[in-house]
Amino acid sequence: MRSFSGRDILSLKDFERNEFFHVFDVAQQLEPIARSRRNSDMLSEKTMVVAFYQPSTRTRLAHEAAMHRLGGHVTGFADAKMTRAGDWYQESIKDTVKMLEFYGDVIVMRHFQQGAPHEAAKWASVPIINGGDGWGEHPTQILTDLYTVLREKGRIDGLRWLAVGDMRMRTMHSLAYALTQFDCPITFVAPPEMSLTDEFKADLNNYSLDYREAEHVEQAIAEADVILVEPVVQPDYTQARQEAGEHGMTPANYKITRELLANKAKSDAILLHSLPRMDEIPPDVDITRWSRYWQEAYNGVVMRMALLALVLGAME
Ligand code: CP
Repeated sequence: MRSFSGRDILSLKDFERNEFFHVFDVAQQLEPIARSRRNSDMLSEKTMVVAFYQPSTRTRLAHEAAMHRLGGHVTGFADAKMTRAGDWYQESIKDTVKMLEFYGDVIVMRHFQQGAPHEAAKWASVPIINGGDGWGEHPTQILTDLYTVLREKGRIDGLRWLAVGDMRMRTMHSLAYALTQFDCPITFVAPPEMSLTDEFKADLNNYSLDYREAEHVEQAIAEADVILVEPVVQPDYTQARQEAGEHGMTPANYKITRELLANKAKSDAILLHSLPRMDEIPPDVDITRWSRYWQEAYNGVVMRMALLALVLGAME
């Protein structure tokens, strides 16, 4: 297996099956630190730089929490408008990263431009972790989700997935690439204007992903072991920021309600949502036995601990 030390985490297209299991194993080893709510000193000599060009609650703070749990230091920016990349200068990724690499030992980047973290990785002498790039990918989120499935179901292979939402979304791309490494058939349900692109489907066919598409969650929910939902009412992820405004409601085709779960879902299926949500999962689903999104949030810290420990060479 390739070493993770010094490695960029840009895409799950790069990940091999044994690497997924290795990351899950390291996460499992570090989990007691998070569970006991204490900070260790594993990364006490390391600093993480966050470079967030787009809003985030979970991805940035879970990385920061993970770094604190491992005793490391954190610096960076959450609002690029207050940097030279976001003002009159529009400083380039190259020039910005050639500074940031001296301020820390790993850089976590979220950007509205697809491929920005890849561009950063070309210039940085420290590892780059992709915290979500435009419509591109969101690898740390899907590693979190797969780890959650492993913890909740005891296995990944042999489970059937239902993915609902906007298939242009970066999480969906990372999910599809990841599942090519497992025995996991998947059904995608999306509005026609948000469906998988022909180009992406061609890519998936190269990797032999067992997938099909359906028009309504009711057509696929009964056979799903894992239901992963993302909004179809959401901002344009290629913009740095969009303010709240008028928006529609989620059509029934893309909504997971308490009634639908009770009437149609397997009794032991699990429901994931990386959040934020709109109305695609109403709050009364939160206390049903299917929901696992709060566990997903906790696992998000554990997974980032594992990735930081690995890329910074504290664990092999
Ligand atoms: N799931 C996720 O990426 O959330 P944030 O946008 O809050 O980071």
